[in-house]
Amino acid sequence: MSRTAMKRSSRYPLKVALASTCLLGMWASSAWAVPPKPPAKQTLRQLASARGLLLGGAVSAEVLDPEQVDLSQGVAREYNLIVTENAMKWAPLNNAPGQFNFTLADFLLGYAEKHKQVMRGHNLVWHEQLPRYIAGISGRAELLAEMKNHIQTVVRHFKGRIPMWDVVNEAVSDGEGHPLRQTPFLKIIGPEYIELAFRWAREADPTAKLYYNDYSTEGINGKSDRVYALVRGLLEKGVPIDGVGFQTHVDSTFSVSDSRMLENLQRFKKLGLDVQLTEVDVPLKGDAPLARKLEQQATVYADLLTTCLAVKCSAFVMWGYTDLYSWRSSGYPLLFDDDYKPKPAYYALQKVLVSAPK
Ligand code: XIL
Repeated sequence: MSRTAMKRSSRYPLKVALASTCLLGMWASSAWAVPPKPPAKQTLRQLASARGLLLGGAVSAEVLDPEQVDLSQGVAREYNLIVTENAMKWAPLNNAPGQFNFTLADFLLGYAEKHKQVMRGHNLVWHEQLPRYIAGISGRAELLAEMKNHIQTVVRHFKGRIPMWDVVNEAVSDGEGHPLRQTPFLKIIGPEYIELAFRWAREADPTAKLYYNDYSTEGINGKSDRVYALVRGLLEKGVPIDGVGFQTHVDSTFSVSDSRMLENLQRFKKLGLDVQLTEVDVPLKGDAPLARKLEQQATVYADLLTTCLAVKCSAFVMWGYTDLYSWRSSGYPLLFDDDYKPKPAYYALQKVLVSAPK
């Protein structure tokens, strides 16, 4: 069964849940309750643009498919920013030494430009989705040369058209033992691969903003402490870093307040860095009825956006558009269901964009 067919066969419970959510809403707005405000007429893109916020999501080749009109029109209507989910990673762009294939990435950038959207560059140096030839390199000078060539060829190719890049992705370890993840770059080059990556990216396009990006760093915890120490150290050395991306792959039981996310984002802002939520998705989790879980998901989305706005983050980016094509699709983590209908989370974000202080 194809992925689409598989997902389509499981649409029914979601529809039932959404219908019951509406019924609950009607019941709650009976005579004695305060009637809810009608949802804003404006799209998320219009509301976000009016506040100077970049709001968007990850896209793949499907967005270019002429048969996927709901997806292509929806992404253009709702998002003022897109990021390629995979097309600008190392292996897709540079699968053999010195050989680059920009075809899909260029088409996706063309889509963004046609729809007057900002493209976020993701990513230059990461331990995953690396080509096989990297594993075959054991010499420091050789790996440095490949890394420099990769970063500079990619950043120069898109120079002036991609205003922000995730330069280093997920370099901090999950455990407490060692602050940095044991990647081929760390093992062969040493920790200075991180600062070199930023310096080479800046050299290739001095106008692009450069980010460090990681997951499980939204709240105050051991990992975000390690990221904080890393970026503070980079700033002290004069390394050209402009911001930190917080991926925000959480779930519907996540608590923005318990995790002390506001305080965490504020400490990075105080270093003079820009802050972005870069890969938000919120799969449904737990035993509550589906309608309840969709409401919990909507609350998490609203709290994340409220917190992002409170620290004047520059971007709120989701890791996709419809649940149908999400990398975590079994958890229905995004704003639009498999039929491209907006979910409670969509209206929750709309409400925040309308009412949050400017
Ligand atoms: C994921 C993509 O969504 C998947 O399609 C792919 O198979 C693996 O990578 N952190 C990141 C993203 O920085 O690049 C990852 O994207 C998700 C986790």
